[in-house]
Amino acid sequence: MKRIALLLVTVSAVAGVAVSLAAGSGQADKEAAASRGFTIPSGYRDWRLISVAHEEGTLNDLRGILGNDAAIKGFREKRQTFPDGAIIARVAWDYVPLEESSKAFGHAQSFVAGPPKNGVQFMVKDSKKYPATGGWGFAQFNDGKPGGESAEICFSCHQIVKARDFVFNRYAP
Ligand code: HEC
Repeated sequence: MKRIALLLVTVSAVAGVAVSLAAGSGQADKEAAASRGFTIPSGYRDWRLISVAHEEGTLNDLRGILGNDAAIKGFREKRQTFPDGAIIARVAWDYVPLEESSKAFGHAQSFVAGPPKNGVQFMVKDSKKYPATGGWGFAQFNDGKPGGESAEICFSCHQIVKARDFVFNRYAP
């Protein structure tokens, strides 16, 4: 049973990537490229909260958007562009009903963060190192290992919010 559940989680995670990839190809090569020149910043889990998000569909998760000091400063000062050194992290967990709450309410009422899901993503601002992707390095790690789409695919979608320096989430005061 546990195996089936695990398999389902894997399948849905893969499907989620496939959906957002749409026109992508050569996934394996791109996975390595996604985190090129970037390692997981130490202490990122203790960074400050920028905002939260819920993804529906196959991604079906709850996420927290966290920023290091330079990123938080950029948001608070409402800068047009983020300063070099700014890093934004996106963490995510399974979106699950809280069992104890369901008992209290008699129906699924409270949805909370379950186990980690859909990897951890980072955007790091270094305009000299990443000129081709808006000055941002894009990287994803699944269980600590490089994964996800290529930085070019990440960037092509983030282009939509070019006016906000390629950052979708707004700072939630
Ligand atoms: C199909 C579009 C799409 C692709 C591809 C994509 N993103 Fe995003 N990304 C979004 C959207 C929409 C949000 C805001 C909603 C959210 O937080 O889930 C977001 C949020 C983020 C954030 C939080 C900062 C922000 O912009 O709000 C980071 C960090 C991030 N993405 C990194 C990545 C990385 C790294 C990749 C590639 C491995 C990637 N993204 C690929 C659409 C995309």
